[in-house]
Amino acid sequence: MPLVTTTEMFKKAYDGGYAIGAFNVNNMEIVQGITEAAKELEAPLILQVSKGARAYANHTYLTKLVEAAVIETGLPICLHLDHGDSFETCKSCIDGGFTSVMIDASSKPFAENIEITKKVVEYAHDHGVVVEAELGTLAGIEDDVKVSAEDSSYTHPEEVEEFVSKTGCDSLAIAIGTSHGAYKFKPGTKPQLRFDVLEEVSKRLPGFPIVLHGSSSVPQDLVAKINQYGGNMPGAIGVPEDQLRQAASLSVCKINIDSDLRLAMTATIREYFAQHPDHFDPRQYLKPARAAIKELVAHKIVNVLGCDHKAF
Ligand code: G3H
Ligand code: 13P
Ligand code: ZN
Repeated sequence: MPLVTTTEMFKKAYDGGYAIGAFNVNNMEIVQGITEAAKELEAPLILQVSKGARAYANHTYLTKLVEAAVIETGLPICLHLDHGDSFETCKSCIDGGFTSVMIDASSKPFAENIEITKKVVEYAHDHGVVVEAELGTLAGIEDDVKVSAEDSSYTHPEEVEEFVSKTGCDSLAIAIGTSHGAYKFKPGTKPQLRFDVLEEVSKRLPGFPIVLHGSSSVPQDLVAKINQYGGNMPGAIGVPEDQLRQAASLSVCKINIDSDLRLAMTATIREYFAQHPDHFDPRQYLKPARAAIKELVAHKIVNVLGCDHKAF
């Protein structure tokens, strides 16, 4: 099976009350950990590549790793550009074999966001590629751009119909209280996603797939392990998994997870070196790191996304 777009995946996810996991990939071990879990659980997958990932690992290497995962697993896998920042970046990924791109012009004024998104949609659709757009601004850090909590803003539901009809985008990322990175909410606070905003958006866009960014849950055991083995992460909490599960049962068809993968990998490698200070073969510490990613992704597929055994 070749790489697929999200069209079929999202239709089935919407109707079935589950979501597809969109996991960020930056190297071979991450691709393997994610796809081994998905294969065992027969889960459809979105593997996404950020601008930073392309700069780190190179477009061709990442594309070929994902193509290898398709061959190894036989799963329906979509290769997606995460947070495309311009028409040129999106075009380069469309021309370079991606099956889905995000154009993130959410920090621009409404009319400009529509204009840029429409241009990307026209080019993408001409090439059989689907487009995710964003309305509303999430707090947190992505590609070194930091948005403070004060500058973030929930999506305005009254804007979504005009935005989708004028741009022709295939899915829409909205801001309902999630944020990027490992430091989402202050310890001691009780995170609560704005399900009223999600509900209002869904009412206005019946059957239309909604995307949630910033959906790591920041497992406290991983943060504790990092700190136990020499790290110094200040307290932080993520998005509660039961709220993500609820969103997945509604109109949310794509849930983005990156920070939790980073935490799993880092906690495992820190622990490994604490226990084996004399080791220096990268295969020795990357093997358990890859296994930790696999375990985390399996947990997300079953307990958060609900997309196990939905691949075929
Ligand atoms: O939303 C951002 C993703 O976590 C990607 O992060 O831009 O550091 O690769 P990155
Ligand atoms: P997290 O930082 O919560 O993992 O979000 C990742 C993301 O939204 C990638 O686009
Ligand atoms: Zn994101």
